[in-house]
Amino acid sequence: MREELRALWERTLAELRNAGTEEELLEIRTRCLGRKGLLTGLLRNVGTVPPEERPEFGRECNEVKEDLSARIDELLAELAAAKREEVLLGERLDVTLPGRGVRHGRLHPVTQVKEEICRIFSGLGFSVVEGPEVELDYYNFEALNIPKDHPAREMQDTFYIEDDIVLRTHTSPVQVRIMEKVRPPVRVLSPGRVYRRDSDVSHTPMFHQIEGLLVDRGITFGDLKGVLTVFLKQVFGEDTALRFRPSFFPFTEPSAEVDIRCVMCGGRGCRVCGQSGWLEILGSGMVDPEVFRNVGYDAEEFTGFAFGLGLERIAMLKFGISDIRLFFDNEMRFLEQF
Ligand code: PHE
Repeated sequence: MREELRALWERTLAELRNAGTEEELLEIRTRCLGRKGLLTGLLRNVGTVPPEERPEFGRECNEVKEDLSARIDELLAELAAAKREEVLLGERLDVTLPGRGVRHGRLHPVTQVKEEICRIFSGLGFSVVEGPEVELDYYNFEALNIPKDHPAREMQDTFYIEDDIVLRTHTSPVQVRIMEKVRPPVRVLSPGRVYRRDSDVSHTPMFHQIEGLLVDRGITFGDLKGVLTVFLKQVFGEDTALRFRPSFFPFTEPSAEVDIRCVMCGGRGCRVCGQSGWLEILGSGMVDPEVFRNVGYDAEEFTGFAFGLGLERIAMLKFGISDIRLFFDNEMRFLEQF
């Protein structure tokens, strides 16, 4: 038996010297050292070894097993290293090739306009605040001097969630929420989504507005005109002509709509301005004393003005876009132009 063990060891060593591939090494390992392998076979026949030699034989078997197994592992590792080396030698890295450009994301045109307007008003001392899109009827209408049966509710096609809960139809409810919380002076700007049941080339059921509110002692319509003039000239250019037109909102008195000279035709009259030469840009007015009463401000002590404008409309005019729905199609070829 011990001769057989020695012969097996030597034969296997010779086989290992000739083995050149991973498959051959694995085959040898299974054949000699596996559970049904030659060495296991020898050990099973230990009964034929004289009892006094058995411990010695067992030890020798283990030595052979460990020796062969270590050699096979080493050869396998060498083969793997050689293979890796070959792969690396075959690969070439040309560091002089121009890199692949990184694709830049872009801000949505509506976001760009929003950020620009917020920047302009930050420069005038306004801070940015937000309010909920799902709003109580009270804030969206009632507190803004639009009672339940007021015809002004017809001006806005409202999405109702429940009898007294709506998707806000404008950003004006944020005025009320802010005035409930802080005492004048108030100078806030509130951008956000608003919702109306409306859909065509210039209306989408969801769009964005920015609301502005300034309240303090001694604020006049002159301040409203001054601030909005500075603002619109920064957005549309120093030479932009403006006009303030009397209008009506239940929550401002007096109220004015502000138009700019048509940016498309310069005032000659075109399709965009409906041949009038003017573009309606925003609604504004002096905060109605009734609104002050609702938030507990003394209308004798404080006055203020508010304004609201649609961001999509500004972006359409700035970038010359004719269909508002393009903003919400998520079409990359459209968005990549900004
Ligand atoms: N909330 C008005 C609208 O959506 C705009 C507005 C805001 C008018 C503030 C006056 C003052 O049409």
